[in-house]
Amino acid sequence: MTDQKLAIIVLAAGQGTRMKSSTPKLLHEIAGVPLIGHVLATAGELDAAYTVSVVRHERDRVVEVIEDHFPSSIIVDQDDLPGTGRAVEQAVAGLPDDFDGDVLVVSGDVPLLDADTLRGLIAEHRATAASATLLSAELEDATGYGRIVRTADGMLDRIVEHKDATDSERALHEINAGVYVFGVHELRDQLARVTTENAQGEKYLTDVIGLLRRAGSDVAAVTVAEPWLVSGVNDRAQLSAAALKLNALIVRGWQLNGVTVVDPATTWIDLKSSLAEDVTILPGTQIKGATSIARGATVGPDTTLVDCEVGEDAVVKRTDATLSVIGVGASVGPFAYLRPNTVLDADGKIGTFVETKNSHIGPGSKVPHLSYIGDTEVGQGSNVGAGTITANYDGVNKHRTVVGSHVRTGSHNVFVAPVRIGDGAYTGAGTVVRKDVPAGALAINVAPQRNMAGWVEQNRPGSAAAQAAQAEQSAQHSAQAPDEIGE
Ligand code: UD1
Ligand code: CA
Repeated sequence: MTDQKLAIIVLAAGQGTRMKSSTPKLLHEIAGVPLIGHVLATAGELDAAYTVSVVRHERDRVVEVIEDHFPSSIIVDQDDLPGTGRAVEQAVAGLPDDFDGDVLVVSGDVPLLDADTLRGLIAEHRATAASATLLSAELEDATGYGRIVRTADGMLDRIVEHKDATDSERALHEINAGVYVFGVHELRDQLARVTTENAQGEKYLTDVIGLLRRAGSDVAAVTVAEPWLVSGVNDRAQLSAAALKLNALIVRGWQLNGVTVVDPATTWIDLKSSLAEDVTILPGTQIKGATSIARGATVGPDTTLVDCEVGEDAVVKRTDATLSVIGVGASVGPFAYLRPNTVLDADGKIGTFVETKNSHIGPGSKVPHLSYIGDTEVGQGSNVGAGTITANYDGVNKHRTVVGSHVRTGSHNVFVAPVRIGDGAYTGAGTVVRKDVPAGALAINVAPQRNMAGWVEQNRPGSAAAQAAQAEQSAQHSAQAPDEIGE
């Protein structure tokens, strides 16, 4: 049910300078979802009356992603005055004038925070008479974070940013997580009084805490049990640390759901992928995007699947596949490359050093070795010989190859598209198939072999090849000699 007394402000206007990236910080991904997407998903679980996202840096790109993940978010543009305080001030102005509840502020760059922790924070705020309640954490290395400064009797007094802190303040380990609940009126009043007199020349939201205390209001802190919940992402080292933590949680979640993950340290599973019971994931495997893997399938080692569908009991070994469907009981790899729109039906095989693209390989059909199969349709029960290449591109247009059912093509064939090989047809080794092959025919177009006897001795006299040839010839000669005598 919608909480009519709750508004959420999502801070997403910062530049993210420390990422040193042309991609806005909040669009960097962990587990296949942009940082801001994680925060918006968590915000969505709280079902607030209003959710306001504040944007400025790379505004259009960020807004597009926000609208993707949270279409009903109100978008507020922050002006040129920098700082989290200014961002919140403008977001509050974006709320209806008669809104009279609590404002939860979350940062777009704190992706691991969960809804339960936020619910606990809101409940604590509402249970006390505090004007503001914030999340804090005890960190061994608090570098970069704002520190919670308490009075001698332990009362929360103010927050000092790392850049403004004295040495003794920097030695404090209790950090501000950047997540707060405020009464909307107190927040509005105090924000108006925040200045930009600090090391960064910004309007800090954190200053509201000290101002509230000076005004005699109560401010409370809730310490999170597990500090990783509030880890912020400012640079790429923190990005990978957050990704690592989230991945560990995802892998563990699937393990508890009945998936065998042999090596969690080298297995990466995106948030949107799904795995059934009795799936086995071998080391060095990445399951990305909206990949789904059905019961009993084995994936890996060293495999990357992006937006793929893997059927029951399929085996996918040392493979790179994108936007492909691997059927029930099918076998792929080792060393296969499945490009988008490959569909391998049940019990089919795409084997070693085979590349496929935009192709449908029917039930039980096999492309076992060293082939490129593009823009191709293969029926059922066919075998495509080793080293087959579909010449699908004439330099201007792409054309399709059709291979019927129960076809046997020879090794080292080229199928020059558009071309069709009929049901039950055969092709000889080395055939360049330029014309359709009727059902049941054998196609061969290679020239008959000619052996020019003695060519090596005449043209390469004295070479190792010539000596070896002579040796074999005389061995054959003497082996035949006794018979000849006997005759
Ligand atoms: C902020 C807190 C710090 C806290 C830390 C927790 C302030 C002044 N400091 O520091 O006490 O320990 O988070 O992670 O609040 N943003 C805007 N507009 C701006 C500037 C930033 O919307 O003008 C957004 C950013 O996009 C980001 C969030 O606010 O999502 C935090 O900004 P950031 O610059 O990362 O603050 P920190 O230095 O991490
Ligand atoms: Ca930050």
